[in-house]
Amino acid sequence: MNNKIDFVKIKNNIENLEIFDFATVFKEIASTNDYAKKIACEYDSFILFAESQTAGRGRIGKTWLSDFGGCLMFSIVIRPEITDELSPFITQIVAKCIHQNLYKSLEDKHKIQIKWPNDIMLNSKKICGILTEKTTCLSKTSPIIIGVGINLYNSITEPSIAEIATTVESETGIIMDADKFILDFINSLFEEIKEFTEKNEIDQNIISYLNEYSFLKDRFVTVNEVSGTVKGVDESGNLLVENSVIRSGTVEYL
Ligand code: BTN
Repeated sequence: MNNKIDFVKIKNNIENLEIFDFATVFKEIASTNDYAKKIACEYDSFILFAESQTAGRGRIGKTWLSDFGGCLMFSIVIRPEITDELSPFITQIVAKCIHQNLYKSLEDKHKIQIKWPNDIMLNSKKICGILTEKTTCLSKTSPIIIGVGINLYNSITEPSIAEIATTVESETGIIMDADKFILDFINSLFEEIKEFTEKNEIDQNIISYLNEYSFLKDRFVTVNEVSGTVKGVDESGNLLVENSVIRSGTVEYL
C-alpha cells in the first residue's frame, strides 16, 4: 500500500453506506467547515473531504496547516436532536471514536491519548484536531458541523510545528489504511450519536474511556486563569482542575 489517500475509493465506500445525502472531495478549498456551514441548511447530512485547504481553521481562531500533505481532512454535517446543553459533548464523542479506531490500527506500544476537549495525541504530540461548530436553519433541527484533520502520512518539516505535532507515519512507521479508518470511524460515530440522541444523556462509559486515555490527567495545567493538577473529566464532560470545573478553554501544560 502506498501512502496516498485514495479519495475515489473513500467516496465510493461512503456512498455505499447510504447514510449521507452526498459525499464530495475537493482538490482544494478554503475550509471544509466553512463550506459545510454555508450549505448546511440545504441538506440533512453530508460529508466533504479536502485534499488541501487554503484557510483551514482550528478552535479559537487558530489556523489548521496541512500543506505538508498526507492529512485526512473532512467535515461531516449531522442533525442530532439533542438539547443545546448536551451538544458540546459531541466533540468528546468524536474524540473517543477517532481514538478507538486509531488504537485498532496502531500497535499497543504507541501512546495514543485524548487531550480534552478536541485533540488526539500520539507519543505526546498532536496528530488530530476536531472543530465542532453549529449553525441554525429556519425550519430544521440545527446542523452540527464536525471538522476533523488527522495527520496520517509524511513528516512535518516546519520546525515550530514539528515540536508540537506529528504524523502517524513519522511517529510509528505505520502506513494506515485511510479508507478503512474513515469507514470504521463513521460507523462508530453514527452508532454513538444514535445512542446519545435516544437516551438524551451522556453515556458514563464514554466518560470512563475519556479518563482512561486522558493526556491531561495528573498534569499541572493552566486554563481560564485556573492553575492546578487535572483530576480528570467529570460526568458532564467538563475538565476538573483541582476543584474548578472547566467547561471550555485552551489548556496550557508544562
Ligand atoms: C483544532 O485543532 O483546533 C481543530 C482542527 C480542525 C481541522 C479540520 S480540517 C477539516 C475541517 N476544516 C477546517 O477548516 N477545519 C477542520
